[in-house]
Amino acid sequence: MTDSNNKSDFDKMIEKIQNEVYEQERMVFSERVIKEYNNPKNIGKMVQPDAFAALTGWCGDTMEIYLKMDHDIIEDISFMTDGCGATIACGSMLTSMVKGKSVDEVKTITDDDLVTALEGLPEENVHCAHLAIITLEKALEMLE
Ligand code: FES
Repeated sequence: MTDSNNKSDFDKMIEKIQNEVYEQERMVFSERVIKEYNNPKNIGKMVQPDAFAALTGWCGDTMEIYLKMDHDIIEDISFMTDGCGATIACGSMLTSMVKGKSVDEVKTITDDDLVTALEGLPEENVHCAHLAIITLEKALEMLE
């Protein structure tokens, strides 16, 4: 067997494993959730934010949200978490939803809005959406 055949067999094996992992994930999470946690947007700590909050949920996971403001518009936002994939998906989706919006618009976003944007969350992960929302609310309170 040549090197290229070996590589091809290896690639096939990796592809098979990836497909199996994806199928298992799809049994639990929506396609949108999987996309968000595999490729999270706005992740990372922000230097000198205008507002910041960190909250730890009952599960022990922490969500951090950083805001950079342009008057009442959220000019930039980022998040960090030590939480599960669903928490990463929530941080990614929520920060994408609020970037460029006014504080008043953002204050109307609910846990349900976030879950809907993620095309649903398993019951045991709905609290991940709540943690993201209340952390954002806490960060916004710093601006008052
Ligand atoms: Fe607790 Fe995700 S499992 S925030």
